[in-house]
Amino acid sequence: MPFHHSALLRALLAIVVLPVFCSAQGFSRKSSWSSSNKWSSSNKWSSANQQKSQRQVSNGDAELLDLLRSNGVEAIDTPEQDPKHAALGNLLFFDRLICGNNDTACATCHHPLTSTSDTLSLGVGTGSPSKNEVGVFRVMGEGREFVPRTSPDIFNRGSAHWTSMFWDSRVSTAGGVTTSPAGAALPSELVKPLQIQAMFPPTSRGEMRGSHEDVFNGNEVAAFADDDFAGIWEALFARVMDNDIYRAMFLDAFPEVDEADLGFQHAAIALAAFETEAFGMNDSPFDEFLRGNTQAMSRAAKRGAFLFYGKAGCVDCHSGTLLTDQLHHNLAVPQIGPGKNPLTGLDHGRMGITADPADEFAFRTPPLRNVTATGPWMHNGAFSSLEDVIEHHLDPKESLRDYRARLQLVQPDLISTVVNGRTMQDWMLDTAEEVDVELSKREKSDLIEFLHSLTAPDLAARLQALIPASVPSGMLENGLGE
Ligand code: HEC
Ligand code: HEC
Repeated sequence: MPFHHSALLRALLAIVVLPVFCSAQGFSRKSSWSSSNKWSSSNKWSSANQQKSQRQVSNGDAELLDLLRSNGVEAIDTPEQDPKHAALGNLLFFDRLICGNNDTACATCHHPLTSTSDTLSLGVGTGSPSKNEVGVFRVMGEGREFVPRTSPDIFNRGSAHWTSMFWDSRVSTAGGVTTSPAGAALPSELVKPLQIQAMFPPTSRGEMRGSHEDVFNGNEVAAFADDDFAGIWEALFARVMDNDIYRAMFLDAFPEVDEADLGFQHAAIALAAFETEAFGMNDSPFDEFLRGNTQAMSRAAKRGAFLFYGKAGCVDCHSGTLLTDQLHHNLAVPQIGPGKNPLTGLDHGRMGITADPADEFAFRTPPLRNVTATGPWMHNGAFSSLEDVIEHHLDPKESLRDYRARLQLVQPDLISTVVNGRTMQDWMLDTAEEVDVELSKREKSDLIEFLHSLTAPDLAARLQALIPASVPSGMLENGLGE
């Protein structure tokens, strides 16, 4: 069932109903613009007034720049990569070869056609009958489970500011200490969190590796025990090096490494180089503004920025250049899907890693560049409108009590999985962040305009250009179906 009826309804509402409503109420931006323009052109006072207001705006710009700089926000960095690593990573990212069952690639869940995420509430991993399909066209395979969390976007994850990966930061380099699910088995060549992260999707049974039963379909990678990371990586890399084109490319891209010392970590280095280069975008209106181009952001976006860094308190967590503190907070987002803990069937968030009750239901603050293109939002895709995301932040309790899965979840199959009884709600609200902000309708829409200013121009076209024409294994995930 590809399209969710309520998503369709929403789209229809947005296209047909809202503009009519707005113009009837005289709300539309256009009409207020034109009326003030008319007024000013027929009034002698206006030019003095206009100059005055322009001065105010530019004073406002200086104030906003100061505010951003005092908060330690800079235009995002896009570290330069070894072109041979990036070219190799580009192929690996779109190749189903490194999936146990040869039916899923990194691109499947982070496709350029779906803004480096997948437009789903929860991801659909290996074993799906939807071959080479992405987004809402991907349905669950029989006997398979949803991936427990939503596929995050992967924009700008190569920035030097990152010290954590995943919604629970189970990969971390914070404080100069590297931690990952592989412990001592993690190869020492890996330095950046993005490189370390790339080691894990192919080890995950649900995402890419396959179930125990898949062994009988010739999937040798599925045979390893879940904690035998070294075994899994060796088997995966053997597949890659069995391909003459990849072998030649690896030898060429890592000339300083003996062939016998090459391993899946070098594939991870290549993948991270590609992700850094391809998905690193530093020209959003916000980044342009940060470089001093004060015209880049609209007035509404600037008003939204003053709120974000002021009264609305967003900067308390969405801080710094990445717009995240890389810390974990419980926002009381409803529980959806299979969960991460087999005993409770719940996703306990960061507590699943630290076992610290203070981390119960806490998830890493997400970064926000290009966020307007990467819904549904939250760690499990619980919300499909940014307006509702903001409402939820402002009053998690009311939003949780009123949560309507039918209107929010992209996959109808997930509706029955929502754990949202009163006891569950109270448990989550018990440790949830207290938010005490009230915003007017106009302020909320200014905040949304600010979020739009974080999105890079021509995003869709730039992303589409990253899809290679072919990959060495012949198993290209271009998302265009079979
Ligand atoms: C089946 C879907 C799926 C596939 C395939 C997949 N991912 Fe992901 N990816 C996810 C999900 C879900 C998460 C979040 C998991 C979590 O936080 O527990 C994630 C997280 C990430 C992150 C961390 C982003 C952040 O901000 O923390 C990166 C980077 C990433 N994936 C890259 C990759 C790469 C590279 C590959 C291929 C080697 C890949 N993914 C394959 C679904 C997928
Ligand atoms: C107390 C810390 C905190 C504050 C304050 C905060 N956020 Fe968040 N924000 C988070 C966390 C944590 C999540 C993810 C929660 C989850 O998935 O469980 C999130 C999620 C989001 C998302 C969804 C992003 C995605 O990729 O899914 C948006 C958009 C967002 N916040 C915007 C805002 C805005 C706008 C404000 C100010 C009104 C704000 N946030 C205030 C911590 C915070």
